[in-house]
Amino acid sequence: AKDPVRVLVTGAAGQIGYALVPMIARGIMLGPDQPVILHMLDIPPATESLNGVKMELTDAAFPLLKGVVATTDVAEACKDVNIAVMVGGFPRKEGMERKDVMSKNVSIYKAQASALEQHAAKDVKVLVVANPANTNALILKEFAPSIPEKNITCLTRLDHNRALGQVAERLNVPVSTVKNVIIWGNHSSSQYPDVNHAVIDSPDGEKAVRDAVSDDAWLDGEFIKVVQQRGAAIIKARKLSSALSAASSACDHIRDWVLGTPKGSWVSMGVYSDGSYNVPPGIIYSYPVTCANGDWTIVQGLSIDEKSRAKLDATADELVEEKALAYTCISE
Ligand code: NAI
Repeated sequence: AKDPVRVLVTGAAGQIGYALVPMIARGIMLGPDQPVILHMLDIPPATESLNGVKMELTDAAFPLLKGVVATTDVAEACKDVNIAVMVGGFPRKEGMERKDVMSKNVSIYKAQASALEQHAAKDVKVLVVANPANTNALILKEFAPSIPEKNITCLTRLDHNRALGQVAERLNVPVSTVKNVIIWGNHSSSQYPDVNHAVIDSPDGEKAVRDAVSDDAWLDGEFIKVVQQRGAAIIKARKLSSALSAASSACDHIRDWVLGTPKGSWVSMGVYSDGSYNVPPGIIYSYPVTCANGDWTIVQGLSIDEKSRAKLDATADELVEEKALAYTCISE
């Protein structure tokens, strides 16, 4: 039998946490033959509800779940973890300035970076979900210099999956037949959902999504807007932000990173930019990636037309600006 993998979920008493921990305990993140030990972190006001989640994990009698650590102590939470899913953060409240939210999250991610660096497994893989996801991940990377930068990522897989979902709905085909959409840039409304390289599997082979949809006005207009604004649409409908889809996409992100992407397909991940596609280095930017042997690689050589170029640049500009804002918060 395999040794258990230790998976940290921060913000585990929150909405996404509640959807995510049972998925991990059922093997959806790491596979049906991989035992897990869950580490759940939240803050002191959430202690009781965190313990409630722990009770429910016991009650669900998950065969793969070999242990649960539920704590408000960051060092204890990070101890020896192999995977860290960072969902905890400070939400934007009514009347709060962007800078105030940034400042709160910068201090959280700075502190948790140090804790991971000191206590986690040396090869810990980190996925930041909490917003501003790209910039939180960047801060985590900057303040955990001994964790390889390749091991620090943020979640844009939800946006990727949303794009697949929209194309599948439009074409009335199973979502599993659609692949190779791309989310470029920030997990925010400046992101660019790109279908120029996307394909569907059809009975007569692979077909470009552009040809299959055959409505450029929709693909270049409504489709992009719907994906960019989907988070807001869910909040409007549910009065709560996306949780089951965020949790499921976080599992997809880690599963593909650890177990590899299927041949001929890629996924979107927020990773530390090396300047690929003329994106500024030094920001966490969502790229198309393939994964093998526990590593991701940016897909190279895709053609970028002029319209796309402007969109890749606009979302990069926003990230450069967020980075500057984060650094003002650090120096204050
Ligand atoms: P939530 O408010 O229900 O849960 C957040 C939890 O984090 C709370 O239990 C809170 O006590 C905890 N927390 C706060 N500060 C913490 C700290 N310093 N350490 C540990 N835990 C802490 O929020 P929800 O709906 O679960 O969303 C979590 C985050 O994920 C938000 O920032 C949200 O914007 C983001 N999000 C990101 C998505 C993505 O695709 N990247 C999609 C959906 C949400």
